[in-house]
Amino acid sequence: MQVKWEEIDHYARQWIREAGARIRATFAEKLTVETKSHRNDLVTNVDRETERFFIENIRKTFPDHRVLGEEGFGDNITTLEGIVWIIDPIDGTMNFVHQQRNFAISIGVFEKGVGMLGYVYDVVQDELYAARKGEGAFLNDKPLSPLEPVSVSEALISLNATWVTENKRIDPSVLAPLVKDARGTRSYGSAALEMAYVAAGRLDAYITMRLSPWDFAGGLVLVQEVGGIVTNLYGEPLRLLERNSVFVSKPGLHEEILKKYIHH
Ligand code: IPD
Ligand code: CA
Ligand code: CA
Ligand code: CA
Repeated sequence: MQVKWEEIDHYARQWIREAGARIRATFAEKLTVETKSHRNDLVTNVDRETERFFIENIRKTFPDHRVLGEEGFGDNITTLEGIVWIIDPIDGTMNFVHQQRNFAISIGVFEKGVGMLGYVYDVVQDELYAARKGEGAFLNDKPLSPLEPVSVSEALISLNATWVTENKRIDPSVLAPLVKDARGTRSYGSAALEMAYVAAGRLDAYITMRLSPWDFAGGLVLVQEVGGIVTNLYGEPLRLLERNSVFVSKPGLHEEILKKYIHH
């Protein structure tokens, strides 16, 4: 059967806007904050309620689609066959708890592993970044322009300070020279927003050493749709069912960083 992407897109946008309004309404209420794997790994009742809201709607409307969600209310996904929604109900939970801003809803919809729809919704700014494969990417109603090449010396790069200090995943001396040579560095604490910023030209690249599929699924579709490059730190395609290092960049810059800073 022919997949009706227009219809899926329509529902996804409607649910995202509705979930966003619900999240904004919780700012007036008391949050329940718990920790997961360690003391800085936070989850709230709103993360859980938002994920369940999406999953209930998807199951009701598209019973043959499957869902992979961070908080575990979705399906047990081990293959990419058919249509799979990859959902992060709140990306940037720490920001949600501490700042009530700088977090996003992130959704990617994949068909046999190919990214077809991508959404990152900045709930507080009411900015919906959305892309449909082959149809372009938009920030609310405004089309996003194709990304132009840029060099490191003129690049604003998003990178957490963790990766240039002692850590388990990368020698701090690998990325430190990039931090020095770039025009500037930033860190926002929401991978989905940082990828959306690259898609919108607000950042030139984003580098991080470990993300789960729900962190990057929405941003992946967005960035690719405007001609940006999404790989792991070594230039290989991301695996959708595993954790990956993630290197998102404008064209040109991606090559320059790989050549001069990573493969040396
Ligand atoms: C986190 C954010 C953060 C990234 C972490 C993620 P969460 O997602 O994307 O920017 O550095 O690795 O786990 O837990 O807030 O959805
Ligand atoms: Ca989390
Ligand atoms: Ca996340
Ligand atoms: Ca999350």
